[in-house]
Amino acid sequence: MANAYETSTPTRLNPPRVRLPKLVQGVGLTLFRRGAMRYWIKRHGHIFEINVPFFGRSVVVSDPALVRSVCTANAEQLINVQPNLSNWFGPGSVFGLDGGRHRDRRRLLAPAFHGQSLKSYEKVIEDETLRESANWPEGKEFRILEPMSRITLNVILRIMFGADGTELKELREIVPPYMKLGQLLAFAPAPPAWARRHSPWAKLDEFRKAFDRIVCTLIDRAESDPNLVERADILAFLVRSGHDEGTGMSRVDICDELSTLVGAGHETTASALAWTFERLRRHPDVLAELAREVDEGGGAFRRATIFELLRVRTVIDVIGRRVNSPNFDLGEWSIPDGRTVLVRIADLHENPEIYPHPERFDPYRFRGTRPAAPEWLAFGGGARRCIGADFAIAEMDIVLRTVLQNFRLHTDAAADEKSYFRGVAHIPKLGGRVTLHRRK
Ligand code: HEM
Repeated sequence: MANAYETSTPTRLNPPRVRLPKLVQGVGLTLFRRGAMRYWIKRHGHIFEINVPFFGRSVVVSDPALVRSVCTANAEQLINVQPNLSNWFGPGSVFGLDGGRHRDRRRLLAPAFHGQSLKSYEKVIEDETLRESANWPEGKEFRILEPMSRITLNVILRIMFGADGTELKELREIVPPYMKLGQLLAFAPAPPAWARRHSPWAKLDEFRKAFDRIVCTLIDRAESDPNLVERADILAFLVRSGHDEGTGMSRVDICDELSTLVGAGHETTASALAWTFERLRRHPDVLAELAREVDEGGGAFRRATIFELLRVRTVIDVIGRRVNSPNFDLGEWSIPDGRTVLVRIADLHENPEIYPHPERFDPYRFRGTRPAAPEWLAFGGGARRCIGADFAIAEMDIVLRTVLQNFRLHTDAAADEKSYFRGVAHIPKLGGRVTLHRRK
């Protein structure tokens, strides 16, 4: 039998390889993503190599020390994985940039998702939660995923484009099907131009054209707004940046970036919120503690609950990079130029040496602490760490607080909902079914 390790003296060059035909590995991953990964980790350990369609030969890591090396690597040496989400959002998206341009874009976007800006979004988040929950049925089971998606979509649209209006109404209709299809096609290579018209990409192009048309109207309006300087929405902020020589963004880039922020910023948070209610339904002790804390005006346990939720039900289970230097030293392994490196967040979060009884939903693990990379990687790590991480946590916090202030969640011993992979995010398969009663 062939040795699983390709050896070369004095150092081993390649991690153990999964020895199955490329197509079989690809089908295995598509159909049994979690199970296949668990099986290969059991067989090969926390670093091994797969060969799959689209990503090619890819080194998969979930060992914390190796993950730390990936997260702290020089951004020129490890660039974004190919294909990535710029396939869907366009080359002007932060996902499509590397090196200096990527750094500059992050610097430009960062203020919109930190500090004072976050504070100013609180009321919008609370308002949208109250608006959406006003008509929730009492005492009747329903899927909470879609209401959560509507809340997070309305929030991101309002903070990106400012006041409510006709255009926002149109965007509310276009965005959900655009995002649903985009997630499915995000990592598939786009067909050549002549075949595109007869593929699902044509529908994606149609949605994108409609999105851009509305956003261009809003950009035109912002350009001629005498109060542009005072406006706090992200569109105004990007338009103002367009006036700065050197760092300014073109109109096409602004459209790509706004599409990115809507896409990256609402389904992920909605999935995490749906999982939160799915877990709380089955954990009356945690729910009781949260309800008590809400009544007393606290929030520390709620934060710990959110950190634990993002660990135990990892919404984005993998992040990817591509080696962009003659080789990349990863522990005792040397990874050659062009090779994909995939960090398996979900498997890192399930490591019993880091988290005893990893399958348990136990917010007390994070009480009084703030988890960080490499052990906790819900938002990725390093130069490409999620730009909306603080915003997402704040949004989850406010939505959860508002629901708990207004509703009692029915708890029982229902079987756990399975995880369903939507193309980018993992959602509860039944949509997070809950029964609520309004608090008197
Ligand atoms: C619970 C919600 C969320 C989760 C779990 C999540 C997770 C992630 C992960 C794992 C990455 C990849 C990081 C890496 O490659 O190291 C990422 C990137 C990103 N996320 Fe999030 N995210 C969430 C919410 C948001 C929100 C609310 C926004 C913006 C409004 C956002 C915008 C982005 C952007 C722009 C990137 C690309 C960063 C870059 O390439 O430099 N995300 N997110």
